[in-house]
Amino acid sequence: MKIAVVGLGRVGLVAAACLAENGHEVEGFDLNSIRLENLRAGLVDFYEPGLDLLVRKGAAGGGFTVSHPSQVDHLDADAVFIAVGTPTVPNEGADLSSVYASIEWVQAHQNRDIPVVMKSTLPPGTGRDLIVRYGLNYVSNPEFQQEGRAIEDWLRPSRIVVGLEDPSLEGLVRDLYTGISSIWSITDVTTAEMIKYASNAFLATKISFINEIANLCDLVSADIDGVSQGMGLDHRIGSAFLGAGIGFGGSCFPKDVEALELLARDNGHKFELLRSVVSVNDRQRRSVLTRLRQLIPDLSGASVAVLGLSFKPETDDIRESPGVDIARWLSEDGAAVRAYDPMAGNVARGSLPPEVEIFDGALDAVAGAEAVVLCTEWNEFREMDWRDVYGAMNAPKVIIDGRNTLSANELKEIGFEYRGIGRGRIPSSDD
Ligand code: UGA
Repeated sequence: MKIAVVGLGRVGLVAAACLAENGHEVEGFDLNSIRLENLRAGLVDFYEPGLDLLVRKGAAGGGFTVSHPSQVDHLDADAVFIAVGTPTVPNEGADLSSVYASIEWVQAHQNRDIPVVMKSTLPPGTGRDLIVRYGLNYVSNPEFQQEGRAIEDWLRPSRIVVGLEDPSLEGLVRDLYTGISSIWSITDVTTAEMIKYASNAFLATKISFINEIANLCDLVSADIDGVSQGMGLDHRIGSAFLGAGIGFGGSCFPKDVEALELLARDNGHKFELLRSVVSVNDRQRRSVLTRLRQLIPDLSGASVAVLGLSFKPETDDIRESPGVDIARWLSEDGAAVRAYDPMAGNVARGSLPPEVEIFDGALDAVAGAEAVVLCTEWNEFREMDWRDVYGAMNAPKVIIDGRNTLSANELKEIGFEYRGIGRGRIPSSDD
């Protein structure tokens, strides 16, 4: 099939490259000319494992081309995927201007009604409004890709959710996903939109819940790793997203939880639970400084290494990243902050105060530091020789493991003052 993909960011480019990989003829469109130049040279301007290879393969085989929307006189495709951003405007909800502009561009350049497949995350009810406003052949097809494993999630999805008002479009969507075997959930447009928001909000709720349990574990000397494992064995609960730590970040959970809460408010409903999910998450992030102050009461002048600036491993995405906030707060408190991330160091530069030093290696970052705060569970940190880190640091050699990813026993044996999140009682200041 001939497929156009509008928006070549983290969602659209994965879709475009994977659709080409599955044998479709794909033309991708993006307003960012530098991104297009890079793509023509086989380069992707963000880090997603394996994506550059897939882009090059698609380009070499002729199945994937990219263009600027202004280069097109006439759009020829069997379907158009729309995968543009819908950022949340505080207290206003999702900004849909890019979605409107994309649809208007498609309509201005088509000779017949090309079905629109919506990948952008839209507040429930929006798709139906778009159908009325533009008279579209419209399919809602939310994405459930996780950054860092987006290609795997596209090629082997947990489910394919399709929202339709016109059942005759189902065959088209099934053809788009030729070669991909998954469970299909076919429903109406608003329900599909709600599935996306509810899924993200539920996962975020799971994280805030386990973080509250972890906070209690610290107070009663229980071990959150054992609790998560024991809970997860119940298949009704499941073990995924019970990883306690400094909370969720990224471009999706914070934005989607806020948008869902706003949607509830706009419809006269107070979604109390979601408010708590957000406030627990904010507090969890801030709790790192409290935990650190229990061991180094005066952070001003202290040298603190922050390991991990991306919001999670295997991405260079720093949107709503706990590591970036924590590095900034530490710096604002007068600490000398030495940061390192395997992929996001350069990206983070513009989001951090100039006093925060960013290093090219973890060992350089920890040199002379009195404390290390681990904010992202990159494998590199797990695999480091922590004896070398110990040797490079200055007393009191504190580790705040914000992702419970290191071996507490091993680090304590080396001599570190180790604190995880929920891995034992936090000593009070008079201990
Ligand atoms: C999330 C969803 O998992 C995807 O299904 C969805 O498609 C995507 O949002 C989206 O809406 O586009 P993503 O933001 O890439 O994917 O990241 P996740 O792997 O879900 O992690 C989100 C945050 O939760 C990260 O900051 C991570 O560190 C945190 N997290 C995750 C925990 O704190 N504990 C856990 O146990 C799991």
